[in-house]
Amino acid sequence: MTNPYTSKVAVITGGSRGIGYNVAKALVARGSKVVLGDLLDKEGEAAAKEFNDKAGKQVAVYLHTDVTKYKDLIALFALAEKAFGGVDIAILNAGIAGDAACGLFTPLDDRADMFIHEVNVGGVVKGNKVALLHMAKKGKGGVIINTASMAGFAAAPSISAYCATKHAVVGWTRSMVNLEAVANIRANAVCPYWCETDIIANPKDEVQRQFLQATPKTTMKYVVEAFLRCIEDTDLSGQALLVLPDGVHVQDQYIPPESCFTSEFLEKVPELAIAGVNLHKENLAQAVKLAKL
Ligand SMILES: NC(=O)c1ccc[n+]([C@@H]2O[C@H](COP(=O)([O-])OP(=O)(O)OC[C@H]3O[C@@H](n4cnc5c(N)ncnc54)[C@H](O)[C@@H]3O)[C@@H](O)[C@H]2O)c1
Repeated sequence: MTNPYTSKVAVITGGSRGIGYNVAKALVARGSKVVLGDLLDKEGEAAAKEFNDKAGKQVAVYLHTDVTKYKDLIALFALAEKAFGGVDIAILNAGIAGDAACGLFTPLDDRADMFIHEVNVGGVVKGNKVALLHMAKKGKGGVIINTASMAGFAAAPSISAYCATKHAVVGWTRSMVNLEAVANIRANAVCPYWCETDIIANPKDEVQRQFLQATPKTTMKYVVEAFLRCIEDTDLSGQALLVLPDGVHVQDQYIPPESCFTSEFLEKVPELAIAGVNLHKENLAQAVKLAKL
């Protein structure tokens, strides 16, 4: 079996600290090159320097990247191509919570209300589209991993807007299941439960502080393990991996009730699935041509 890490290049958004940094560190330790994109330049540059110094050669680069902007994401993936010859693994991990995480009682403000959606959902959607074009251009396939959350399944009134964004990331990622047949790209979502990072370091009120203090948490070790599993396990495609206090679990897919299926429909499904893959192959080829990346 070929090594899934050596000679591989991973683009990681939100790579300056926390989960993104730790995943980058694990990938570099296994022989991959990493391209980090984040808003936190000092931390991102320090991370790249740390990895390069330790390796004694260039294995990491950093670029200031706002994941809400196509321009920045296009530049980040172009850097992966320029510095290391392309991208094999795209990890769309940047995300925010904080004051925007609830959103129910804030002023009626078009821009402010959509901001968390632009970062947590927009950053994933736009990043996936740029990654897909790069991977398809090379024709070698690849791995896409999106950081969702346990909040992509569970409902939590104190972080309702955050839950909405992470449900969206789960739905988007699961819907990319046929990319494996279309372009040999496996897309999966990692969905951590609470994990000690800066994103949960400043609770917005006393109720949240007490909740965070009392709730069990998962560990960074398990979170990193989930990302590595998405890379190594070629059976995983369109899946969501929960990272719970007791480890990593693949979440069951939702199966619609029987009333959604008739025998005529079921007969037609295999034929439609093939037609859908062929249509997406044509659409992707056209998109690569148009994007000129
Ligand atoms: N820590 C947890 O409990 C937990 C649980 C579930 C999911 N997550 C998710 O994990 C991901 C990583 O979070 P973390 O826990 O490492 O927290 P973190 O705050 O340490 O890391 C988030 C990173 O994203 C970056 N970022 C934010 N907005 C950005 C933007 N517009 N463009 C580029 N970068 C941006 C931040 O600068 C930071 O480096 C997030 O998507 C978060 O929602 C975290």
